[in-house]
Amino acid sequence: MATSETRNSGVRLTDLTKSYGDFKAVRGVNISIRPGETLALLGPNGAGKSTTIDMMLGLIRPDSGTVTLFGSSPADAVQAGVVGGMLQTGSLLGYLSVRELVAMVASLYPHPLDVSEVLRLTGTTEFADRATTKLSGGQTQRARMAIALVADPDLLVLDEPTAALDVEGRRDFWTSMRAVAARGKTVVFATHYLEEADAYADRIVLMARGRVVADGPPTEIKARVGGRTIRATLPGVDQSALVSLPGVTNADQRGDALVLTCPDSPSSDSALRALLALYPQASDIEVRGAGLEEAFLDLTGDDGDVHDDVTNA
Ligand SMILES: Nc1ncnc2c1ncn2[C@@H]1O[C@H](COP(=O)(O)OP(=O)(O)OP(=O)(O)O)[C@@H](O)[C@H]1O
Ligand SMILES: [Mg+2]
Repeated sequence: MATSETRNSGVRLTDLTKSYGDFKAVRGVNISIRPGETLALLGPNGAGKSTTIDMMLGLIRPDSGTVTLFGSSPADAVQAGVVGGMLQTGSLLGYLSVRELVAMVASLYPHPLDVSEVLRLTGTTEFADRATTKLSGGQTQRARMAIALVADPDLLVLDEPTAALDVEGRRDFWTSMRAVAARGKTVVFATHYLEEADAYADRIVLMARGRVVADGPPTEIKARVGGRTIRATLPGVDQSALVSLPGVTNADQRGDALVLTCPDSPSSDSALRALLALYPQASDIEVRGAGLEEAFLDLTGDDGDVHDDVTNA
């Protein structure tokens, strides 16, 4: 069993790899998480977030590498109620009410929280007597959170917990989650949204194509991937003139189409003003937050081939 020293070691993922056939879904992931930390796993579709989370929860066995949760294996930690998971897929037992389901899960663990308290914390009290099949998307997510929480785990692992929710639902969910995290829990959640990771995590681990491509505090990660692009149609302008515009870090021209890359506002605002002042003939102007996928490809310089590691190792 875990000693107090190993419990303090938090969560350790060491050199994790996982392939499906010859497709390398996770390619050497190393993450250490301190007890009490809230960590976001951020990445585009197919980055390997769910595969990593499933390995953390012991649902998938890694091809190589190890997972320790407070000094224990995932299987032992789950069994002991040390870790609670909220997965991306899977349905709730339909014939039970939310309260009955949470109470049933509570009965499986040695030191569960009080069921009414969990319902209150997760904002499920209002519909606790409804069958789990009769819930909205947001209510279902809250019920899932209640189930993950009732064993009073030290670690909560949430795979895109707000995926089905509207803006208000997200905010409510995270308000509940904050109350939970404030009890000293370690929380790991997967998300596609930089804003969500920024708002609710102490630390962001960026994943792309099965790898960790950046790991740090939200402000740092935001600065790296939170850029904007300005697109415009502008014939006959020299690239060097474009790169020297204030706030512009990169200029890309394809024919008359122009893409300027800037850090987030206010740099992008200055760039746009300067562009229009110097080239009033620019048309079809569009300013967008750089997509995560784009930002990741930039960061990794990855050509997208995930079958080539053996030769590159
Ligand atoms: N059971 C499986 N069999 C084959 N390939 C799989 C399987 N599960 C996942 N993959 C592939 O592994 C890669 C990583 O998938 P994973 O579900 O971990 O990504 P993700 O980051 O969670 O993506 P999303 O944001 O879409 O949930 C994807 O390319 C996916 O198609
Ligand atoms: Mg996923």
